[in-house]
Amino acid sequence: MEKFIAIAVMAFAAGILSAAAGEFKSFKPGQIMPDNNGVHINAHGGGFLHKDGVYYWFGEHKTEGAGGNLANVGVHCYSSTDLYNWKDEGIALAVSDDESSEIVKGCILERPKVIYNAKTGKYVMWFHLEFRSADGKPNYTTARCALAVADKPAGPYAYVGSFRPQKGRMPTDGEVADCASIDKSFDDAQIDKVLANNNYKMLKGRGFAFVRDMRGKGQMARDMTLFVDDDAKAYLICSSEENATLQIHELTDDYQNFTGRFARVRCSDWNEAPAVFKKGGKYYLFASFCTGWAPNSARSYVSDSIYGPWKSLGNPVEGTPEQMRTTFGGQSTYVIPVAGKKDAFIFVADSWRPKNAIDGRYIFLPVEFEDGRLVLRWRDEWDLSFFDK
Ligand code: DGJ
Repeated sequence: MEKFIAIAVMAFAAGILSAAAGEFKSFKPGQIMPDNNGVHINAHGGGFLHKDGVYYWFGEHKTEGAGGNLANVGVHCYSSTDLYNWKDEGIALAVSDDESSEIVKGCILERPKVIYNAKTGKYVMWFHLEFRSADGKPNYTTARCALAVADKPAGPYAYVGSFRPQKGRMPTDGEVADCASIDKSFDDAQIDKVLANNNYKMLKGRGFAFVRDMRGKGQMARDMTLFVDDDAKAYLICSSEENATLQIHELTDDYQNFTGRFARVRCSDWNEAPAVFKKGGKYYLFASFCTGWAPNSARSYVSDSIYGPWKSLGNPVEGTPEQMRTTFGGQSTYVIPVAGKKDAFIFVADSWRPKNAIDGRYIFLPVEFEDGRLVLRWRDEWDLSFFDK
């Protein structure tokens, strides 16, 4: 027993020294990823910000056990200058003990993403919020995106509020042709019945959930990401319409609200886990199918405009049938553009462990471009020199 404790202490100390001294020099996808304290990084469903030479990683702080998928702590932040060695910056946005708060402890707070707004000098965090349910069980019917703002990258972030965007609005851009399909469970006669006495143009083929929420609470916003374009315009991209359709919402100049310009894309494709990046003037999107915490086959898309049409590039995974079926056991969360390297992008995915959420792993893999396609291949270990080839 004593020998075991001695080995554990040595391993822990080695972890501290390693991360603190910048000893990690590679990515080992799917393995424990120690921070500067030797503790496995706790930032799931993460997003990354690069500012003044430092990368910041924001993600869901999970706790032990199945209940650990609820937001018991908040959004955790880490910083790094090389993407291998991460320093714990603490909790950037804390859940509240105030029972009347929308982010009261026990709510669901997922996929936080942070962008910097040069006009205001503020750091703007958006995330997916589900209000705490009365019985304490996960309940995803709130389906809101929520906002928090800070003066410094690692926070503390002040909670602003939550939104169901575009109430009463029709989309202004996007794939009209692609969005001709509707929820299979509702035929035209039912939809016409639901919408009787209203005269919305383009009514047919707009989707029952879309129309319901346009008339009612505003659009659903679950799995989400943020993307800032070269012209500094920012977009919130989220799974909407009961997850059947992605919506792309332009944000206001301060990134803290919606302009009202938005598109519905890949209707009835059932995409979750969107992650967007841009290369050579084209927009690329990774996403997944909807199977809860269980992994499924990744999807990839390309478009000349952020608003679409988004053309499918198929499953980006090249590997064994099992790897293709499960995306190496992972689900996309973000694509990191590597600073200082041309056309270098890292696909980041979560390998969820729903029975012990805190033990979830991270998969970092290089994005390869082959014949206009995006390709992901498994690597037990790799480093950024990959992009110098
Ligand atoms: C899949 C989503 O991508 C996750 O962020 C989370 O919402 C789970 N579903 C919950 O089952």
